[in-house]
Amino acid sequence: MKPVTLSTLQAYKRAGETFSCLTAYDASFAQAASHAGIDVLLVGDSLGMVLQGHTSTLPVTVDDICYHTRCAARGKGHSLLMVDLPFMSNASTQRMLEDGAALMRAGAELVKVEGEAWMAEGIRELTRRGVPVCAHLGLTPQAVYQLGGYKVQGRDTVQAERILQDAKVLVEAGASVILLECVPASLGKAITDALDVPVIGIGAGPDTDGQILVMHDVLGVTHGRPPRFVKNFMADAGNIQGAFQDFHEAVKTRTFPAPEHCF
Ligand code: KIV
Repeated sequence: MKPVTLSTLQAYKRAGETFSCLTAYDASFAQAASHAGIDVLLVGDSLGMVLQGHTSTLPVTVDDICYHTRCAARGKGHSLLMVDLPFMSNASTQRMLEDGAALMRAGAELVKVEGEAWMAEGIRELTRRGVPVCAHLGLTPQAVYQLGGYKVQGRDTVQAERILQDAKVLVEAGASVILLECVPASLGKAITDALDVPVIGIGAGPDTDGQILVMHDVLGVTHGRPPRFVKNFMADAGNIQGAFQDFHEAVKTRTFPAPEHCF
């Protein structure tokens, strides 16, 4: 399969085609996901919860992320490897540059950062130095204590307008991709339509350009009650490779997310 690059994602957007994204934290699962056709793999700081057993992503360090990035990079195949800047990597522009460099040296091909319009300077400086950036908006799990829990964001028009404006500012600053988490489907569509760059959604409705899930949720290895936007693809597939393939197909054919997965 041809390597997936930022240009591939942009071409998907222009053609109105969706693309699939899945978290992966090691070489074996990265390889299985890549063989299933998944376009983008994310070494997410969700590893703090699904691998390390924490109740939030806050304890994850740059060293943790770099270790898992090196592992996933060895199995990533044709897929594009996106990697999370962990909690407080956005504390200053200098820190974003240093942590972004560490992630790229470990094998990242696209760096994801959580925050709002105030990250514009950091994103501008990263992209100036050749580090492509995905800006994560909506529910940003690193701010879970500020947000008062893992709650849907942008439900009222003021909040929705702020998220849309933040996305525009960060694209203007150089973000090549936007990731929207847990926002109403109508806002997911409005932001996707308003931007020229690819928009990836998780709990952001069926109209974003890409869809992402955490691998453990796709495989039904979710602790406690799964969030509304999650689908367990293992239940029907019965094996890991089949579950990844079914997720990929469901995204490509826009049968996932279904209305029951949306807000
Ligand atoms: O860390 C992660 O896995 C993420 C996804 C939920 C998008 O950021």
